[in-house]
Amino acid sequence: MKQILLSNGLSVSSVCLGAMNFGTTTSKQDAYAVLDAFLDQGGNFIDTSNNYAHWQGTGDESETLLGEWLHDRGCRDKVIIATKVGFDRKGVGAGLKKEQIEYWCNESLRKLQTDYIDLYYAHTDDMSTPMEETVAAFDSLVKQGKVRLLGGSNYDTWRFSEFNYTARDMGCTPYTVMQQRFSYLNCRLDLKPNYIFNENVGRERLRYLEDKDIPLVAYSCLIRGAYEDPSRIPENYVGGARYETIVKMAKEKGVSTSALVVAWLCNVHRMKGFPRVIPLFASSKLHHFLGNCEGAELTLTDEEMALLTNA
Ligand SMILES: NC(=O)c1ccc[n+]([C@@H]2O[C@H](COP(=O)([O-])OP(=O)(O)OC[C@H]3O[C@@H](n4cnc5c(N)ncnc54)[C@H](OP(=O)(O)O)[C@@H]3O)[C@@H](O)[C@H]2O)c1
Repeated sequence: MKQILLSNGLSVSSVCLGAMNFGTTTSKQDAYAVLDAFLDQGGNFIDTSNNYAHWQGTGDESETLLGEWLHDRGCRDKVIIATKVGFDRKGVGAGLKKEQIEYWCNESLRKLQTDYIDLYYAHTDDMSTPMEETVAAFDSLVKQGKVRLLGGSNYDTWRFSEFNYTARDMGCTPYTVMQQRFSYLNCRLDLKPNYIFNENVGRERLRYLEDKDIPLVAYSCLIRGAYEDPSRIPENYVGGARYETIVKMAKEKGVSTSALVVAWLCNVHRMKGFPRVIPLFASSKLHHFLGNCEGAELTLTDEEMALLTNA
């Protein structure tokens, strides 16, 4: 599997494995099968959070399972673990205050059975805490060696940018990765987002990331199986001709539509106006996951990229 250089020499696989449901709706056995196979294929980039998946458990399950897997396999030095802080757990605890960041980082380290986190994200913005407090708290974790890199998720672009200018002014660590919902199908940007921040990705955000060369980690990029079953396309996505174009090309190439979505995402930086994108997807079923990973190895011609991108 190809590697992507983030910064500070941190090299991650071209796709990222989502562990959100591991230990809750995905059993330990199924999660281990996917994790082992990912490592075998040369994958190393794994995504979790301090609150996964509290809506179907306690919120500790995903990190705890990953910690057990890292311990059982003895593979901590072979993987890049990304985790997050800032969203609520069972309706409480949301925020990016200094004491929250410190507390939840220590909790993540404990559950993950490690003494460092490779990439630590703010899971979402916190407009009620002074930006300087959040910047300093994250930076202190980096200086202590508990965290290697920082990222921001579910931020409005202007707030993400403000974080980085604040960090620069304070001599602190900036966000070097953005994690946001992004897929091949376009979101309906006319609909009100679910949260106060805009979780969708539009043109301006893409151009910002391209300009700053900040990689976009694209979560929920397979739209929970919708590329294999159009009845699963949610109402906040536009299907239509764009959907038909990618389904047709996938049939012609003899791959699943989901794999072709992964391929498009991995290659879209070749198109003007797009940053480097790292598809982040999950599966409880090994055959789905391995099929989707095939997309990371597909070669798409310039004509194919143009056809898909402009559909
Ligand atoms: N930053 C954030 O706020 C945020 C939000 C949401 C998610 N995330 C991250 O993104 C990761 C992925 O998110 P997600 O689970 O929402 O999205 P996803 O990866 O787009 O969708 C996963 C779902 O798609 C199904 N699927 C995958 N490949 C398939 C295939 N080839 N055929 C049929 N079904 C297929 C899976 O079913 P099977 O299990 O049956 O394979 C699973 O139900 C999470 O684990 C988490 O790490 C981050």
